[in-house]
Amino acid sequence: MGPGFPIEFRISGSELFEGGYDLEEGCRIAEQLEPYIDLLHVSAGTYQRGFGNTHPSMFRPHGCNVYLAAEIKKHVKIPVATLGGLNDPAQMEEILASGQADIVYMARALLADPYLPRKVAENRDEEIVHCLRCFTCMAERAATSTRRCAVNPQIGREIEGVEIQPAPVKKKVLVAGGGPGGLYAAYTAARRGHSVVLCEKSDAVGGILKSEQAIPFKKEMYDLAQTYKLLAERAGVEIRLNTEVTREYAEKEGADALIIAVGSTPLVPPIPGLKGDNVVIVNDYYREKDKVSDSVVVLGGGLAGCECAIHLGMEGKKVRLVEMQDQLAPDANVRHRPLLLAEIDKYVTVHTGYTGKQVTPEGILCVDKDGQEHLVPGATVICALGQRSRTDVVEELRDAAPYTAVIGDASRVSTITNAVYWGYHAALDIE
Ligand SMILES: Cc1cc2nc3c(=O)[nH]c(=O)nc-3n(C[C@H](O)[C@H](O)[C@H](O)COP(=O)(O)OP(=O)(O)OC[C@H]3O[C@@H](n4cnc5c(N)ncnc54)[C@H](O)[C@@H]3O)c2cc1C
Ligand SMILES: Cc1cc2nc3c(=O)[nH]c(=O)nc-3n(C[C@H](O)[C@H](O)[C@H](O)COP(=O)(O)O)c2cc1C
Ligand code: SF4
Repeated sequence: MGPGFPIEFRISGSELFEGGYDLEEGCRIAEQLEPYIDLLHVSAGTYQRGFGNTHPSMFRPHGCNVYLAAEIKKHVKIPVATLGGLNDPAQMEEILASGQADIVYMARALLADPYLPRKVAENRDEEIVHCLRCFTCMAERAATSTRRCAVNPQIGREIEGVEIQPAPVKKKVLVAGGGPGGLYAAYTAARRGHSVVLCEKSDAVGGILKSEQAIPFKKEMYDLAQTYKLLAERAGVEIRLNTEVTREYAEKEGADALIIAVGSTPLVPPIPGLKGDNVVIVNDYYREKDKVSDSVVVLGGGLAGCECAIHLGMEGKKVRLVEMQDQLAPDANVRHRPLLLAEIDKYVTVHTGYTGKQVTPEGILCVDKDGQEHLVPGATVICALGQRSRTDVVEELRDAAPYTAVIGDASRVSTITNAVYWGYHAALDIE
């Protein structure tokens, strides 16, 4: 390239697998590269044999790869950059201030919020939409041939423009439900200049994301709802808590548009004992965690059950998981799932092919595929058997305004990504 053309070179500080190169060798590689490059960019792992090191998952601490850059920096004089799971400005500031790296990089954090650096510069840190490390961005490519970010519906659609266009006619919009879908719909409608009221029947917004506050590796999902709430309020949305939208309420409000984002309720099938005092619904764990003993059986091995089981295992509890299918977490995306299963291996005893028949004070009586009965022991049972859309509420509200849209779990039990995307598009569709 000739002199004056800056060359940045990315290496892994260590490949972090048996047989790959280690940090000591990484330092030697860095020393050999130094005369030819201007900036060394220190990542970690390999794509094929350590995806979760290169792209630290929600199970890893933020900044878990910084130590690699810090060590390499001792061996070279050129600037050294670090990255991997960084999304908190205060932590990044600390990495720079303590001299562990000269530059901090972000990949996913900037998909989640491309305005992160600007918000930091303008002291608006509280408005940053943080990356959840959910891997939708990397998994959707395989699943739907799109590039998406769970929390930012504009990713992958930049060519259509990233500005929210003002609505030609300002309307009155009522949003029923303050989960991620309703919050994002309200925020988007307000940014278009509509007059927006969001009603949430409970005493706090967040919907299902409220339940994530008790699970440290998913806390960013809880925080997401708080950030969306703040953004919606700053965009002009009026939030009414403890306010259930009924047909009568909607008609009295007389809105031009009604977005129905009332979500879902937990499935609790008529298994004897499942309504007992020793049972906690996974969604309520954050409110009832003191009830959970040191020996737990999780009933239901979908994403929600698996993640709760991992969390309880991390807390040092003896955790068993009962799942009637052969596979765990088929609803987890293809990037997250292998990392999730690796954590399950560490913390949970799994019983697949077991169908729960009865909950007793000693645990769950199950039947295996050969019809044999087994007691899976545990003093507390966590019920994680899925969700059902609030179809009755949807039917009641369906045509209670000239324009109505049903979004998120109220339409089909799904993911944060779908709730946010449907909310965004329902708000754009208000003419
Ligand atoms: C335990 C658990 C863990 C999960 N983990 C993940 C995950 O890791 N990643 C992921 O992508 N997805 C996850 N999901 C799914 C995800 O949480 C949902 O898809 C998402 O929350 C749906 O958002 P929503 O806004 O449609 O509905 P909800 O989050 O259910 O919110 C609906 C809101 O509407 C309110 N409401 C209901 N009726 C009325 C009414 N008549 N008037 C006013 N308000 C009303 C409710 O009180 C609630 O606050 C998980 C689900 C569960 C159960
Ligand atoms: C959608 C997406 C695409 C990526 N593509 C590449 C790539 O082509 N080459 C590469 O070296 N790293 C790629 N990465 C990895 C990032 O550069 C980065 O190392 C990794 O995401 C960890 O940083 P983060 O935790 O800030 O996301 C990609 C990451 C994402 C999220
Ligand atoms: S899809 Fe998930 S992991 Fe990817 S950038 Fe968005 S929030 Fe982060």
